Amino acid sequence: MNVSGRAYRTIWPAVDGAAVEIIDQTRLPHAFVTARLATLDDAAHAIRAMLVRGAPLIGATAAWGLWLGLRADASDAGLARAHATLLATRPTAVNLRWALDRVRTHVAPLAPATRATAARQLALEICDEDVAVNRGIAAAGLPLLRTLAAAKKAGGRVNVLTHCNAGWLAGVDLGMATAPIYAAHDAGLPIHVWVDETRPRNQGASLTAWELLNHGVPHTIIVDNAGGHLMQRGQVDLVIVGTDRTTATGDVCNKIGTYLKALAARDNGVPFYAAVPSSSIDWTLRDGLREIPIEERATHEVTHLTGLLADGGIGAVSLTPLGSPAANPAFDVTPARLVTGLITERGVTEASEAGLRRLFPAV
Ligand code: MRU
Repeated sequence: MNVSGRAYRTIWPAVDGAAVEIIDQTRLPHAFVTARLATLDDAAHAIRAMLVRGAPLIGATAAWGLWLGLRADASDAGLARAHATLLATRPTAVNLRWALDRVRTHVAPLAPATRATAARQLALEICDEDVAVNRGIAAAGLPLLRTLAAAKKAGGRVNVLTHCNAGWLAGVDLGMATAPIYAAHDAGLPIHVWVDETRPRNQGASLTAWELLNHGVPHTIIVDNAGGHLMQRGQVDLVIVGTDRTTATGDVCNKIGTYLKALAARDNGVPFYAAVPSSSIDWTLRDGLREIPIEERATHEVTHLTGLLADGGIGAVSLTPLGSPAANPAFDVTPARLVTGLITERGVTEASEAGLRRLFPAV
């Protein structure tokens, strides 16, 4: 996507060939800063500290991280160590394991001297594939928005609500939930997006809003608790969220608060879709509630708010009584029965094993 007139992806090889570069998402929306990852530890830190985040981008960064690790130690032990280090960074997004296993399977049979080069090539391919997948999601989701736009009276806009950031910053480019939105906007459809702020880390308020503003898509930031009210008033036509892991049976694990949006959507007859790249499907799981590990993040994210301070620096302010404990589950699971459909790169399907298998019979 364009940032100040220049095309960017979220991750790319450095021109000197010695590192990979990323957009430091902890600095957005206040500063656009890139960072250089030159070692395995740099890559692991970038994922853990959320300089990069969002399921597909976590996977892509991990693939590059294996390249960085293998450059330093391409032995079997080095490969195992790099894989384990990266896999331990974050637990919920399945794209992490998907990308790591894919690179390891590819390089393990090779002579150690050739492993790093092969890993680098595959990391590039994983990034290109992610963009192609998101183009597929855009094409699959666009007709949903066209249908809603066609049903509007002249001057009416299609109101889409989204939660967290499943935009281009969460993938390599284009985004998942935002892919159909950008496609619709670019096609001239009157789209407006309700952006959930997404406490505690506010990826909606700081990242999704920044993306949409940058691309000129009309949007409004709302507090997480406003969505149900807007749905009751008929001000939401469609919900599209991303996913960090979707089970083979169509349960959707996504940023905390997604489930509540799905409940409100069901109560108000608002269609609720998840944009699901196939790399986010965990074919080994059938029961999202019981089987998906939910990341517990630092309580500091709940007790403090980070943002632009009056002195121009970025810092945290305290919100809560010092003695009050806090809890910070980072994801929740929306059962398939509450999901109207899954927008994948191969088309839209119902959230069920039969629906997913119809689109992905060979997996
Ligand atoms: O904790 P994050 O920021 O890595 O959370 C992931 C997300 O951005 C969301 O859950 C998103 O909607 C799905 S990732 C495409």
